[in-house]
Amino acid sequence: MSVLSGKKIVLGVSGGIAAYKTATLVRLFIKAGAQVQVIMTPASKDFVTPLTLSTLSKNPVHSAFFNEEDENAQWNNHVELGLWADLMLIAPATANTLSKMANGNCDNLLIATYLSAKCPVYFAPAMDLDMYKHPSTISSFSLLQKFGNIMIPAESGELASGLSGEGRMAEPENIITFLENDLESKLPLRGKKILITAGPTYEAIDPVRFIGNHSSGKMGFDIAQSAANNGAEVTLVSGPTALSVSHPNINLIRVTSAKEMYEACHQHFHNTDVAICAAAVADYRPKKVAEQKIKKAADDFTIELEKTEDILASLGKIKENQLLIGFALETENEIENAKLKIQKKNLDLIVLNSLQDEGAGFAKSTNKITFINKDFVVEPMPLKSKQAVADDIINKVIVHYEKNS
Ligand code: CTP
Repeated sequence: MSVLSGKKIVLGVSGGIAAYKTATLVRLFIKAGAQVQVIMTPASKDFVTPLTLSTLSKNPVHSAFFNEEDENAQWNNHVELGLWADLMLIAPATANTLSKMANGNCDNLLIATYLSAKCPVYFAPAMDLDMYKHPSTISSFSLLQKFGNIMIPAESGELASGLSGEGRMAEPENIITFLENDLESKLPLRGKKILITAGPTYEAIDPVRFIGNHSSGKMGFDIAQSAANNGAEVTLVSGPTALSVSHPNINLIRVTSAKEMYEACHQHFHNTDVAICAAAVADYRPKKVAEQKIKKAADDFTIELEKTEDILASLGKIKENQLLIGFALETENEIENAKLKIQKKNLDLIVLNSLQDEGAGFAKSTNKITFINKDFVVEPMPLKSKQAVADDIINKVIVHYEKNS
């Protein structure tokens, strides 16, 4: 999956012959799963039509501050566009547009949006070879880079003038690769290894029956996805669930019982930076597993149970520098019970679910949690989707490493 998936991209197109390549660029962004809004300078429309780019981007193209011919025209809000974007790319960036960007010469919607954007801005210059080498252009490059903007260097080859040299806009495929590499290198959990447990465990009674629970695994899978999206290498140890993973950075290990989950976790824990135990592990298992299917006989039937391994507590016992995060599902004295679990299991952070909260718990797409850290700072969170809760949990990990870097 591309790091561009889900990203909101503002593509600013200025007036150079390379503008025709933005059709391919927009198509590649959409293929990568990004959302694209295109802003065109008036001159760029001579090289590629707004209809082409709006069709490919599946969004109206913005060009003027408002359309004079349309009496219902609305003001094109450059501030909103600038704030909407996760990333802005100016491609092709002509010498004229680069100079305006460098000097804040705000005479069109593209420059106004550029000046309003709070996100990373990339620019892909395109011009003739002598223009590319001119001190004025070089000074624009250097000023823009000083502002923190990122240059996607032009490539060498045949130019529209018939001359050959440096100045061709980077090919759309190369622009995509450049952006992906740059974004990946800046992901906050890059280089971190995260172990996550998810789902229920099934404890066998006989070859056809087991003791299990209603956990869907969704919370743990969403945490894994969020961690991977932030650059972590994830080992996801999951009990039986219908869920699957698609992110290449998630190594899914499927297990059935608490014992198998325990073994898989201990195999990976020494080589991990963070462990997040979101699995609903069975607390007890049948002491003896019948080799054959148990036949019904007497009116009463008793199964003797024994405790399973407490995976989280066992990791707490051996932890060195790892950040250890557990869950607690409580029905009464929630905060006090969760604090006891932090101490008992040697945790850095606990994610408390209270079944008294509507919208929290198993087989729901929402969750309402309270964070409690090892210093007993209590932070209740509003009801959110499990995906948003997963992002909140991973944000705690990111903040931990930011503070300790
Ligand atoms: N956990 C675990 N292994 C177990 C049981 C629980 O790793 N055998 C983990 C869960 O993944 C969760 C945390 O421990 O992160 C809390 O689980 P919970 O069932 O709420 O608490 P218990 O410690 O089992 O205590 P109790 O059931 O008495 O509340």
